[in-house]
Amino acid sequence: MATFAAASAKPMAVIDNSQLSLCQKKFDGLRVGYAFAKRKSSSSLKVKSVSRINMALATDVSRFEGVTMAPPDPILGVSEAFKADTNDLKLNLGVGAYRTEDLQPYVLNVVKKAENMMLEKGENKEYLPIEGLAAFNKATVELLLGADNDATKQGRVATVQGLSGTGSLRLAAAFIQRYFPGVQVLISSPTWGNHKNIFNDAGVPWSEYRYYDPKTVGLDFEGMIADIKAAPSGSFVLLHGCAHNPTGIDPTPEQWEKIADVIQEKDLTAFFDVAYQGFASGSLDEDASSVRLFVARGMEVFVAQSYSKNLGLYAERIGAINVVCSSSDAAIRVKSQLKRLARPMYSNPPVHGAQIVANVVGNPTLFDEWKSEMELMSGRIKGVRQRLYDNLSAKDKTGKDWSFVLRQIGMFSFTGLNKAQSENMSNKWHIYMTKDGRISLAGLSLSKCEYLADAIVDSYYNVS
Ligand SMILES: Cc1ncc(COP(=O)(O)O)c(C=O)c1O
Repeated sequence: MATFAAASAKPMAVIDNSQLSLCQKKFDGLRVGYAFAKRKSSSSLKVKSVSRINMALATDVSRFEGVTMAPPDPILGVSEAFKADTNDLKLNLGVGAYRTEDLQPYVLNVVKKAENMMLEKGENKEYLPIEGLAAFNKATVELLLGADNDATKQGRVATVQGLSGTGSLRLAAAFIQRYFPGVQVLISSPTWGNHKNIFNDAGVPWSEYRYYDPKTVGLDFEGMIADIKAAPSGSFVLLHGCAHNPTGIDPTPEQWEKIADVIQEKDLTAFFDVAYQGFASGSLDEDASSVRLFVARGMEVFVAQSYSKNLGLYAERIGAINVVCSSSDAAIRVKSQLKRLARPMYSNPPVHGAQIVANVVGNPTLFDEWKSEMELMSGRIKGVRQRLYDNLSAKDKTGKDWSFVLRQIGMFSFTGLNKAQSENMSNKWHIYMTKDGRISLAGLSLSKCEYLADAIVDSYYNVS
């Protein structure tokens, strides 16, 4: 007996030895046909001509002939281009990762301390349950909603540890696809580049609501409200909890109230993406205030969390998806379905990052130290933001108002540079940034602000 995997989408077919020799003959014939076709024709024909044959036998033809080259990721591709540049002046403002004033990656002291504690305790590497580490799940929901939030106390929050922010968003997207098929998610225009990929891959339809106003380099609040109002009832509305990526423009507390009003009136569901809690303002509570406002109104919300930025755990892939429900019964059912979705995707989440978070939050000394380090990181970013603004204002002799840079919050600044201008920044000035005009201030030092301001002013005025 021999087993053949059909190259088409058909299941494996089991055949005996007499069929095998027949199949071999057919295959040889097709191989001759293929060799002929290869000389004469295009690659699409190559694939077609062998499509019914087990590729284990077809040594000279890849079954991946039909796989086209994927475009580089617009954010991670920037780092590749940066690496390839040999100029000493080069600056990577593409990826949203915190750097020290010397532009080096930073491992938080509390993380090192927590890791030492874990080593001393001799933590094991057993599988976690599907929903993740219990101590992490408890810590993460308390950080998000506050230590004695009613929803948590009443058991109304379904929390599942996720593969950082992205994995948590993706799990929620899979849940939406399964339980709300065809229901759309509204996302801001613009938004973090991966949001569209996440919903596309999960098969969740999305549309955009207005957010950024190029005239003011500020929030198009009227447009945002009008678009949310016009959404079909039942839709989900993706909101950045704080430090909107890529614009750095957040609604004011009064505007958040109005957004909550509209979402409530129109029977929509808010879906918060909280990737920067504590990292935007330096305060965990302040950065969670948008989410807490909705939860205090008794609204059911989704919240994806990430510890990539605020604890610098980028590579540990630690985050969570929380679904705040109106009853504990609903939360239990929702959680069971999130686990059901996670199991065939990745089975259960990684333990290391979860233990770090649990140890930092669970230890009052480390928790306080973490808050200080967050203030330090967000303070450094505020410092370069101010320095960049000062330099832009000094260099630009036209009197243009650059104060929007100061009004933005978090890691990013949306410069208002268009694609061609952003390309000039890389091609002429060796400053790497995303093509939408976003720069990561977390990758900027005080000493480089002047050079950056020169590059921005040149690109803004000399490239159309
Ligand atoms: C808005 C937003 N959401 C989610 C993420 C997810 O990041 P991660 O998957 O590293 O936690 C990011 C990272 O840049 C982000 O900016």
